Amino acid sequence: MTNRDPRTFHVRSFGCQMNVYDGERMAELLEGEGMRAAAQGAEADLVVLNTCHIREKATEKVYSEIGRLRRPDGSRPMIAVAGCVAQAEGEEIARRARVDVVVGPQAYHNLPGLVAKAAAGGLALDTGMPALSKFGALPARRRQAPTAFLTVQEGCDKFCTYCVVPYTRGAEASRPWQAVLDEAASLVDGGAKEIILLGQNVNAWRGEDGRGLDDLIRALDALPGLRRIRYTTSHPNDMTDGLIRAHGEVGKLMPYLHLPVQSGSDRLLKAMNRRHTAASYLEIIDRVRAVRPDIAISGDFIVGFPGESEADFAATLSIVRAVNYAQAFSFKYSARPGTPATAMDGQVPAELMDERLQRLQELLNAQQLAFNEAMVGKRTSVLLERPGKRAGQLVGKSPWLQSVHLETDASIGEIAEVEIVSAGPNSLAGRACPAAFPGEGRAPVLPSAPPDPGLRRGTADAKAA
Ligand code: SAH
Ligand code: SF4
Ligand code: F3S
Repeated sequence: MTNRDPRTFHVRSFGCQMNVYDGERMAELLEGEGMRAAAQGAEADLVVLNTCHIREKATEKVYSEIGRLRRPDGSRPMIAVAGCVAQAEGEEIARRARVDVVVGPQAYHNLPGLVAKAAAGGLALDTGMPALSKFGALPARRRQAPTAFLTVQEGCDKFCTYCVVPYTRGAEASRPWQAVLDEAASLVDGGAKEIILLGQNVNAWRGEDGRGLDDLIRALDALPGLRRIRYTTSHPNDMTDGLIRAHGEVGKLMPYLHLPVQSGSDRLLKAMNRRHTAASYLEIIDRVRAVRPDIAISGDFIVGFPGESEADFAATLSIVRAVNYAQAFSFKYSARPGTPATAMDGQVPAELMDERLQRLQELLNAQQLAFNEAMVGKRTSVLLERPGKRAGQLVGKSPWLQSVHLETDASIGEIAEVEIVSAGPNSLAGRACPAAFPGEGRAPVLPSAPPDPGLRRGTADAKAA
């Protein structure tokens, strides 16, 4: 049996940062109903699993998580499945597992009502998709950590042939200008020093009067108390001139750009319906580097897309060499129900995908390590975000989104000036510098080696990283 009228809750978010944002808003919503957050999932009266459908593994995790919620005495909490699996599978979830609520990503403002309905017995389901109506129905933002997510754009119209997002999140929609600025102001009032603007295609954001993401970033730049601005994830085709220029002009905009390319093969990019080429992608990177030479470039890659030949994969390795990434996320292609790519010829065997993923990751890891190592001996600013493992240690982020560990008397939420003393593949160690850091207008160091010009001309592999 489930609990009636739950008093405590626990929200677990999987998948992308937009899910993390949604999870925070669901928690605020439940708190607004007088419920309290439970420390441990298993102790909570209500557990919200905020799910991801992007790859098969992500989806299957939902069902193992549901199984793990069974308590030693055989009881279980009330279970609400939210997020993209809820949208994609709907009632099907209740056929596979005992759950009480199924709520899609555009309907979670109705969660309290659904919980009440489920407490009275039976499955409560809402997978309606009115793109933006949830925002108006959510309570005010509460106290913030130094870094806050802010969803400004929802959904996707790009229909890459492998991807479920256009189906789980619906059509592209932008939140209105003033709604975004109001929420940003309340995040800063609540203690946020950094705002990360989110959207499945965040750079497709458009204001009611045609203003673009760069205008929004410039407006946020003027917000007193806000120190840093980031945005993610962008599509190459929505990288406007104005947004590129903003990287050279807006002091609070951090020198980091996550710009997924997926593959370096034009043949595969076409089959993926990406609507850009390897060359057009590289041209964007060049233009961004021209205005902000130290920018850290990050990307997403898929290996083993149907029909991927060794030559296609080699093209991916060579675009990686040409760009020289500071960070990257790479995935084996996962066939998703309802997407066009599942019906394509030339599905790549699992072992070949494994082997290619390993080769790609070796190269990306070497680039990331080199990027981090180039910081050693340099000074930079670090936004302190959380306690470290050791006493007196804090962890924060450099402008290039590297985690930096240091011993310091400063407090979480402050921006410390730090000298980097050592670098590993995933983080840096720093020493607090006594002098106050003058500000972050322009970054003080150039950590990234510029792309290898020989490789840009397409000559063979001169250097892996
Ligand atoms: N809107 C963003 C993010 C989409 S999901 C964008 O377009 O960049 C994040 C990443 O997951 C994608 O960039 C892609 O690399 C990966 N991904 C999406 N669908 C996938 C699939 N079916 N198999 C493997 N990786 C996938
Ligand atoms: Fe998916 Fe492509 Fe849209 Fe990104 S742009 S969310 S990969 S369909
Ligand atoms: Fe996953 Fe949905 Fe985000 S499928 S990646 S949680 S948009």
